[in-house]
Amino acid sequence: MSEINWGQLGFGYVKTNCNARCEFHDGKWGEVTLTTDETIPMHIAATCLHYGQEAFEGLKVFRGVDGKARFFRIEENARRMINSAAYLKMEAPSEVLFIKACEEAVKANAEFLPPYGTGASLYVRPLLLGITAEVGVKASKDYLFVVFVTPVGPYFKNGFAPIDVVIERDHDRAAPRGTGHTKVGGNYAASINAGAAAHEKGYANELYLDAAEQKYVDEFGAANFFGIKDGKYVTPNSRTVLPSITNKSLRTLAQDLGLVVEDRPIPYEEIKTFEETGACGTAAVISPVGNIYDPKYDVTFHYDAPGKVSTQLFTMLQDIQYGRIEDKHGWTREIDI
Ligand code: PLP
Ligand code: COI
Repeated sequence: MSEINWGQLGFGYVKTNCNARCEFHDGKWGEVTLTTDETIPMHIAATCLHYGQEAFEGLKVFRGVDGKARFFRIEENARRMINSAAYLKMEAPSEVLFIKACEEAVKANAEFLPPYGTGASLYVRPLLLGITAEVGVKASKDYLFVVFVTPVGPYFKNGFAPIDVVIERDHDRAAPRGTGHTKVGGNYAASINAGAAAHEKGYANELYLDAAEQKYVDEFGAANFFGIKDGKYVTPNSRTVLPSITNKSLRTLAQDLGLVVEDRPIPYEEIKTFEETGACGTAAVISPVGNIYDPKYDVTFHYDAPGKVSTQLFTMLQDIQYGRIEDKHGWTREIDI
């Protein structure tokens, strides 16, 4: 393994020792195996390639202050993959199989888990692919489940530093009754153009409004949205938003802080009334938003970021993830590496 400068890591792919795999054939899952192969041999007519029959997950392992390694809410990721797969008529690994494959991939790559204090963590990427050769649009009979890991730093440059974002009005990431609530590649394919345009203009991410009317806030290309005002944590309740595990956790932590949690549609007009807004997700953790620009009205909504509540939530979340405070909600799962 070449020397990794943990503190300088961005969010990208670093080659590790191996990945874990498991295949579904004839109605059942096989054994989990480890392979050093970073490629996937696949039929040219596999359904994942043509019809987007694929789902993925993203979760992290943290090296704690006490030296222990911990997954954060891995069971939730397993359940979300089961939901995503069901929506695309795919076979999903059971919760037990999902966790086993993740554990094996992490154990076989223990030296890639960033040390405590570097701000980095080990990102785990489970991937589910339909691999049967079909030319008609239909579900695969065969599936490949792969888990690879890669050490990562912050998704948005500079970690817990304010980001500027732009409201996206020319592209939707998900249709009103489409796949937005699932973690499938198609949602991200739909967002790549808008994401690239946002980056070119210097914005960290694009913020989507509801696809039907553009009247409500949905989410960012790679994270959920939350706003803080009047002692409340407000986050969109929308069928087209990915049910973020980080956001779910922040809702609980906000309650622990004595905030009222409102899970409801957020009208566009409300954006200017928030004291703080932020992006949250596994990769993003919490990224406080400094400015939201709306090209339609050439208006910028500004926040003095990072705000007090976002900072408290970020600290509480990371204290649990890095084992600095008691995990009273039972969110972490130790892994012996
Ligand atoms: N929304 C989108 C579109 C995402 O890609 C992610 C990342 O997984 C999230 C939200 C945050 O979800 P989670 O907190 O489960 O990582
Ligand atoms: C995550 O936060 O895990 C994500 O999947 C976001 C992005 C990298 C797609």
